[in-house]
Amino acid sequence: MSAEVIYGKPLAEELRQEMKEEVSALHEKKIHPKLVVVIIGEDPASMSYVKGKQRASEKVGLDSELIELPVDTSEQYLLDLIDRLNQDDEVHGILVQLPVPEHISDQKIIESIDPRKDVDGFHPMNAGRMLTGQDTFYPCTPYGILVMLKRASISLEGKHVVIVGRSNLVGKPVGQLLLNENATVTHCHSRTKDLRHHTKQADILIVAAGRPSLVSGEDISEGTVVIDVGVNRVDGKLTGDVDFDSAKEVASYITPVPKGVGPMTITMLLHNTIEAAKRIHG
Ligand code: GUN
Repeated sequence: MSAEVIYGKPLAEELRQEMKEEVSALHEKKIHPKLVVVIIGEDPASMSYVKGKQRASEKVGLDSELIELPVDTSEQYLLDLIDRLNQDDEVHGILVQLPVPEHISDQKIIESIDPRKDVDGFHPMNAGRMLTGQDTFYPCTPYGILVMLKRASISLEGKHVVIVGRSNLVGKPVGQLLLNENATVTHCHSRTKDLRHHTKQADILIVAAGRPSLVSGEDISEGTVVIDVGVNRVDGKLTGDVDFDSAKEVASYITPVPKGVGPMTITMLLHNTIEAAKRIHG
């Protein structure tokens, strides 16, 4: 068996086209959805991510602003800035690129963003709303994975989803989202004993551990759906957490890295920003 490869890009393009039309319709009602991205310091990978977010925002017609702050920006300065953005009626989405420098508390920053403008879905109020199965802003990568699975007509109800990785950004929230879809969810992490025992049980395997080649074809069972969320650089090349070539021979569906989940993350950020504008003006 050789798996069908699920590419994120064509789906992202399709969704962004729909969003472009939606943004035009909002403009007619004098609503101009606006995303503000804040970056502290000059980490090249973070800088490249935020530039990508800005480009994508502009392409669908969103107003977008990038605020670049020096690495020695104080926590109080950042909190005051967020307070101003919270009060600004023209701003609908606020995203502070993580990680922030060590002298700044990422949790304090996340909690200072108005939950109605928290397009990352990281605020404890939005995390809690997701936990209790309410409509809210979902974190962009988990949400992108959910949309990808749905669009590929992969059913979730009663399926055993095994997640490797328990980060607040991906592992934990994707489990919650899929539990809300009636999947049976197992979380694995660095302390899990006999990881292969668990990965072999998966109908759907989501790997978000940040370790290249953590999972290979030998670790999965025939017909498993494999979603690779890893973003690693090995010898200058972007690679996921799954050994694609061996896993592809066993899986039924598999996402590549790059071009798999990645394009969906930014797409869901655009979606959340449009939703924020609709809710604020609705
Ligand atoms: N850093 C890496 N991914 C993300 C993300 O989705 N949101 C924010 N704010 N920072 C990130």
